[in-house]
Amino acid sequence: MVTNSLPRDTDFAGEQPRFWGARAQSIVFDAFSLMFPAAEAFMIRAAQEAHDRVADSALKRAVAGFVHQEASHARLHAAYNRAMDARGFSATALGARNAQLIGLMESRIGLRRKLAASAGLEHFTALIAEAILTDPRLLDGADPRYAALWRWHAREEVEHRAVAYDVHMALYPKGAWVSRARAFGASLVILFALFWSNVWRLTGDSYERSRLATMLDIAWFLFGAPGFFRRIALPTLAYLKPGFHPDNVQPHPIAAPVIA
Ligand SMILES: [Fe+2]
Ligand SMILES: [Fe+2]
Repeated sequence: MVTNSLPRDTDFAGEQPRFWGARAQSIVFDAFSLMFPAAEAFMIRAAQEAHDRVADSALKRAVAGFVHQEASHARLHAAYNRAMDARGFSATALGARNAQLIGLMESRIGLRRKLAASAGLEHFTALIAEAILTDPRLLDGADPRYAALWRWHAREEVEHRAVAYDVHMALYPKGAWVSRARAFGASLVILFALFWSNVWRLTGDSYERSRLATMLDIAWFLFGAPGFFRRIALPTLAYLKPGFHPDNVQPHPIAAPVIA
């Protein structure tokens, strides 16, 4: 597993525009960024807990690579979220609420369910990443610092998409489909609850346009054109197919030229 380099100028210091791209585009990505530091820390802790129980040396190395990549993502998204405060949003408070809910969920489940949840979340994240890498419209017109961060993160998500799945399968092969399916459903409910709650709060902080108009723009961005969520809806459900493996869902765009 390689660590893809992030362009050197990707820091979020300096002048902060309210939106780093089109309003709806900026809010949708910001809503994801608010949950990433806590969600990634949750998956890192699960992977670290599992690491010593994994017997296969290649999978052990993949777990170490996964932890390294997710730790970099969490660090960069924490910086991104701090910059959101400077852009006029209540990002620190919102990020803390996201972390609280994720922490509550984590405190109630054991390693098997943590790994199953991670496997499902990684499938969904990899689909988001593939959309980012293959549809230039999603980051069209974005501030290059933000576009670079999202594309870097997307490449690494595609690269390590199967690690949590493989660890769950290696440690808990019996009844794996049922535990994965249940955790997938629960994880998506939590993920979308956080996402829409973040969107709602961020649109409340919007200015010079009504919240309703902004929400309609966001709905169009997600379900109309470019249709960020529309294009990943069916591949998301492929997770439940018998014989599913994250590496076999679609060809990896990671090998394709990345949009400049
Ligand atoms: Fe990540
Ligand atoms: Fe990931």
